[in-house]
Amino acid sequence: MQKHKYVIFVTLFFIFFLIGCENNEPTPEEKAQVRAIGDQASDVLLRKLKSRLISAVQKSGPAGAINECKLDAIKLTHEATNNSKVPVAVKRVTNKYRNPINAPDEWDKKALTFFENKEGVRDYFPEFYVQKIQQDEAIHFRYYKPLKMYQMCLKCHGNKIKEDVRVRLNELYPNDLATGYAKGDFRGAIRVDIAKEYLQ
Ligand code: HEC
Repeated sequence: MQKHKYVIFVTLFFIFFLIGCENNEPTPEEKAQVRAIGDQASDVLLRKLKSRLISAVQKSGPAGAINECKLDAIKLTHEATNNSKVPVAVKRVTNKYRNPINAPDEWDKKALTFFENKEGVRDYFPEFYVQKIQQDEAIHFRYYKPLKMYQMCLKCHGNKIKEDVRVRLNELYPNDLATGYAKGDFRGAIRVDIAKEYLQ
């Protein structure tokens, strides 16, 4: 009996200890500031990626556009990082990645799960998600903007991909996870990383 009590005590101690460590909820003020910066940086990237994609598909067809998009997506993501008024780091993350550099880390996975759990909930899909992260002595925030699939995305990410597009994708991305989507599916997120010292 005594031993049982001891085990329960130790278990509860660890649970509270872990909860204490996880106590990293951003305050409403922090959330609002991070959101303003994140919205701005992610919108710029999103607009550029979309218009680049549309003109490349119109000019070269989806198979030809793959080459251009491959180079441009990385370049535009770096530009979004460099052009923001506040210093940020912008990245795209998804569980079903085509390009392995867009694979999620542990924090990203938590954010992606947050959105995935909201899929299929009628009339409500969150517009953003914010995390506060303490690493060693430094605190930083991560803003996530969810991405959904449009009809035009399915040319290269859907389940009826044309033969020439499929061949090209197989050559470039033999371990591609980013197909089989339908219109409206949650695809991943644009992540904007901001250090705490850049909040006012
Ligand atoms: C012409 C083909 C093509 C079309 C159309 C297309 N994509 Fe992609 N997509 C790619 C390729 C190639 C990559 C991998 C290169 C990269 O962007 O890093 C990619 C990568 C991505 C990524 C980065 C994550 C990963 O899997 O590596 C996201 C997010 C994404 N696409 C979303 C979209 C959305 C949303 C649309 C529609 C607005 C779209 N794509 C339309 C070809 C396409």
